[in-house]
Amino acid sequence: MLARKVVLDCDPGHDDAIAIMLACASPEIELLAVTTVAGNVTLEHTTRNALRVLDLIGRADIPVAAGRDRPLLRDLSTAAVMHGESGLAGPLEVEPSRGPADLTALELIEQVLVSEVEPVTLVATGPLTNIADVITQLPEIHGRIREIVIMGGAVELGNWTPAAEFNIWVDPDAAKIVFESGIPLTMIGLEVTHKAWLTDEHAEQLRGSGRPGEFVAELLDHFVKFHQDRFGWPGAPIHDAVTIAHLIDPTLVTTLAMNVQIDTISSLCMGRTVADRWSVTGLPANVHVGLDIDRDRFVTLLLGRLSQLA
Ligand code: RIB
Ligand code: CA
Repeated sequence: MLARKVVLDCDPGHDDAIAIMLACASPEIELLAVTTVAGNVTLEHTTRNALRVLDLIGRADIPVAAGRDRPLLRDLSTAAVMHGESGLAGPLEVEPSRGPADLTALELIEQVLVSEVEPVTLVATGPLTNIADVITQLPEIHGRIREIVIMGGAVELGNWTPAAEFNIWVDPDAAKIVFESGIPLTMIGLEVTHKAWLTDEHAEQLRGSGRPGEFVAELLDHFVKFHQDRFGWPGAPIHDAVTIAHLIDPTLVTTLAMNVQIDTISSLCMGRTVADRWSVTGLPANVHVGLDIDRDRFVTLLLGRLSQLA
């Protein structure tokens, strides 16, 4: 089976870091490039963190390019309260071995899309600012995008406001562009990712499995405690890793095609993914929305792959 060619646009962030590691640990995925966006923390930190994670797993061959340092229209609001100012609270901070490529995220994505023979999958696990740029500024190569898979949104409750999930809320204008693009789109939202949590016990399983596993355990030490204290949950949802797991094994996540629109007007519900779960609008489906996940198989896959990293 040919590996799925992927560009990952992310805002590391604990769960983004684990998504990068899962992609690199999986033969089903060929991670062609990583691009970064401001979201969880500032662009400087998300870019530095992507470089650090790739160093850790011996993949400094994968190019990293920095994208937008703020949303299209709104001011940047980060989740530093959750991820720490550095974006990867927990493990000892080390300097990356290299800087980002001398390209913007948009330039690197364009370079990859035009150089690959087969269409490429864009995975986005942060605010959709960079992906919106691809859609608006590279209309001539939309056909070279196989599909877009995002972590973001929710059919029901939000996690950053009562109505909105963080990635969409940070840049709802970018999300509107992506959801209206007509490019095949899968939304892995909170209904799925809130079941994809890891606990302290999982951290202990990983701690003894080499430096990458120890690094993930140190990420979880912080990330699990934050979610236990803030939400009273047993563990921390590894939101972003589900996008990669979905590409590895499409039977893990149950999806349903439906119409989803982004609220970019309301103050109360800004950034809400208004998902027509029961087809009441008659509007055409534009998104495959994740509704459920086989949690046990996800956890087994994730831990198994992470523990295999050198
Ligand atoms: O709402 C969860 C999402 O917001 C994840 O992508 C997490 O990394 C943060 O960016
Ligand atoms: Ca993220």
